[in-house]
Amino acid sequence: MSEQTTGVAIVGAGGWGKNHVRNYAAMPEAELLYVCDRSPDVRLRIEAAYPDVTVADNVRRALDDDAVEAVVIATDAPSHYAVALQALRAGKDVFVEKPMALSSAHARELCEVADEGERVLMVGHLLLYHPAVEELRALVVAGELGEVLYLYAQRLNLGVVRRDENAWWSLAPHDLSVANYLFDADPEAVSATGATFLQREQNVEDVVFATVHYPGGRIAHVHVSWLDPHKTRNLTVVGDRKMAVFSDTSPDQKLTIFDKGVEPPAALSYEQGVRIRTGDIRIPALRMAEPLRRECEDFLRAVRTREAPRSDGRSGLEVVRALEAGTRSLRNRGVRIAVEEG
Ligand SMILES: NC(=O)c1ccc[n+]([C@@H]2O[C@H](COP(=O)([O-])OP(=O)(O)OC[C@H]3O[C@@H](n4cnc5c(N)ncnc54)[C@H](O)[C@@H]3O)[C@@H](O)[C@H]2O)c1
Repeated sequence: MSEQTTGVAIVGAGGWGKNHVRNYAAMPEAELLYVCDRSPDVRLRIEAAYPDVTVADNVRRALDDDAVEAVVIATDAPSHYAVALQALRAGKDVFVEKPMALSSAHARELCEVADEGERVLMVGHLLLYHPAVEELRALVVAGELGEVLYLYAQRLNLGVVRRDENAWWSLAPHDLSVANYLFDADPEAVSATGATFLQREQNVEDVVFATVHYPGGRIAHVHVSWLDPHKTRNLTVVGDRKMAVFSDTSPDQKLTIFDKGVEPPAALSYEQGVRIRTGDIRIPALRMAEPLRRECEDFLRAVRTREAPRSDGRSGLEVVRALEAGTRSLRNRGVRIAVEEG
């Protein structure tokens, strides 16, 4: 391995983890050394496709190998905490898929262990690496949208129905991470309602409607469901100067900027009333790149430079805290629950 390449081990190469495997195997700045998966079928598939990679049924050997600097965890959510803790304690830099952990106590502990050991800890908030979200954030930072007043996100589809997490924990991390990024703030409180239809006895919500409250009265509304006829991945951002819509399922119009707004009545005389402004609609040309590839590159950059990745452990913790508040609200008929400090 050259000094320029980072030795990588991947734990979990199932439905999503196989995309990590494909990316790290193709990146010149990485050397994919191990893929660990407890499923014999997954191991056979990886062995056939990547004969130079060591395939194992658990992570132990990879953690004992000094050539492995970075561990990528794409196992199911309930195992994230234990595998990430094990890897951090073995002195590795760690990328863990979303949700980072299933409790804020576990997420906080991972951050603390990473800080103590001066290890990189990154969370798979994929959308922060989407060119449309990057453009949106650039527009917000440049003030083009004005102050972001509110936003709403819809992440709907028929499936994938999960058993060990509900639609809120499975799907909302994407939208919460983007909302935190665009508001440049952490949520203060969450009120959420939802319903269980497919796995009533296990109390696994299939659909959730949540309002997430941010400082200054700003709000994000998040609608997630795996029981819906539409495949929808939309985000609408309303600023006091312009508005924007991100449609991830659109092949060629992912981001649309509307030069629309309403002059607040207080700024106008009584005769003028409320003035509605509808100007140009712009579809910026985005330099499309696979968001996962950009996410992997940011992880390797953080490992090399020791600078925090965009989606660091703290951002993972903030998302878990909001998820946790949302769960308490779901269990209490939608009452507003404060996101706990710390
Ligand atoms: N960022 C995204 O856009 C995105 C998309 C889909 C899934 N995900 C996340 O990726 C993770 C995996 O999802 P998936 O759909 O690939 O699940 P999956 O069930 O298809 O795959 C998980 C794999 O991990 C293996 N595994 C579990 N525990 C293990 C352990 N302790 N040691 C070794 N192997 C272990 C299983 O055998 C399985 O092959 C989840 O956290 C999910 O939320 C992220």
